[in-house]
Amino acid sequence: MSLDGKRVLLIIAGGIAAYKALELVRLLTKEGCGVSCVLTKAGAQFVTPLSLQALSGAKVYTDLFSLTDENEMGHIELSRAADLVVVVPASADILAKMAAGLADDLATTLLLATDKPVLVAPAMNVRMWQHAATQANMATLNKRGVLVVPPDEGPMACGEFGPGRLAEPPAIVAAIAQTLAQILGAGGSLNGALAGKHALVTSGPTHEPIDPVRYLGNRSSGKQGHAIAAALAAYGARVTLVSGPVSIPDPAGVNVVHVETALEMLAAVREALPADVAVCAAAVADWRVETLAAHKIKKTNDAPPSLTLTENPDILRIISTPGPRRPKLVVGFAAETENLYTHAAAKRERKGCDWIIANNVGGTGIMGGDSNEVTLINAAGEEIWPVMGKHEVAVKLAALIAQEVA
Ligand code: CTP
Repeated sequence: MSLDGKRVLLIIAGGIAAYKALELVRLLTKEGCGVSCVLTKAGAQFVTPLSLQALSGAKVYTDLFSLTDENEMGHIELSRAADLVVVVPASADILAKMAAGLADDLATTLLLATDKPVLVAPAMNVRMWQHAATQANMATLNKRGVLVVPPDEGPMACGEFGPGRLAEPPAIVAAIAQTLAQILGAGGSLNGALAGKHALVTSGPTHEPIDPVRYLGNRSSGKQGHAIAAALAAYGARVTLVSGPVSIPDPAGVNVVHVETALEMLAAVREALPADVAVCAAAVADWRVETLAAHKIKKTNDAPPSLTLTENPDILRIISTPGPRRPKLVVGFAAETENLYTHAAAKRERKGCDWIIANNVGGTGIMGGDSNEVTLINAAGEEIWPVMGKHEVAVKLAALIAQEVA
């Protein structure tokens, strides 16, 4: 979607990542997007109004009680003149204020007064992000339809490692473009398109134990499935996410059932049904060890142990089986490294699902990475999507699901 002529109200809260807001403004204005900046007091510790003004080419607002500003454009008007309100970086503090409905400065007053969709890109220390208070605030915001560009995982300015790093500016631009496309396509709002619907999502790998210390597994990070669960929740669905063992945080506003093995995943899925839509994004291990060793298998001087494997149940095929409990829409993934369309289309037929997201995992960095290259295959044929962030794939898929089952 072209950003030319669109208007974004950008709120810059406090945090070391605030410097990336400058790059975001540069990228947005380069695309022809009008950017009005609001800088919080804490944000002004990291970037100056002058830099933002130079890059946006527009007045930067900082003060709730400025007589001049009120005279030119009142704060209510400022919050409504934009197509989208974006908070970058969204600190733990501003997220808490948003969740509580506080309005003690210009930024929070605008956020409370706006009738426009709000997109937040959180950035904070990993412990602050994972803290139950922040996660509860995110859940509250999620339920209210606030959209999220989740933080990346990696080394942080504070010297720690984990989720909490601000998403990169190009990924935020892409999420803004995607959101605007959906808002304008949906007649102004995403909120509630899936209200009253139950969405079931599987995500992550499964671990199949060999003995008390070893397992069979795969490289799935769960990022794509978790992002889909979050996007469906942002559309107002009640979401049950059945997740294998992953190291990423539970998405906010989603009911997460944690499992280890394929058999546990199947049991959790059965328990969660009925659902209006099911998305099977989990990389379920195809096999499990027939007999689990009660004790750690010891090395001996003989040959290495041989494991007898038995096939795991195909959860996607079971969900897709026609019957009263079959969801109206069942979406599967097909991880392929070659002959993408042929293999994925055959998989759709074999499993009986409605849509397959064919996933080219041949490239480096797809499995476990932050971007994805997918093709949507349904009865009508195929639709090739460009390489996108996993968040964008999730939002685009959720939009299509909303059209299908709403
Ligand atoms: N799937 C599942 N249960 C399984 C295996 C796969 O629910 N036991 C689902 C996955 O969640 C995904 C789809 O089936 O939505 C395809 O998974 P994939 O690993 O690509 O296919 P497989 O069935 O394992 O086929 P193959 O390994 O032959 O490619």
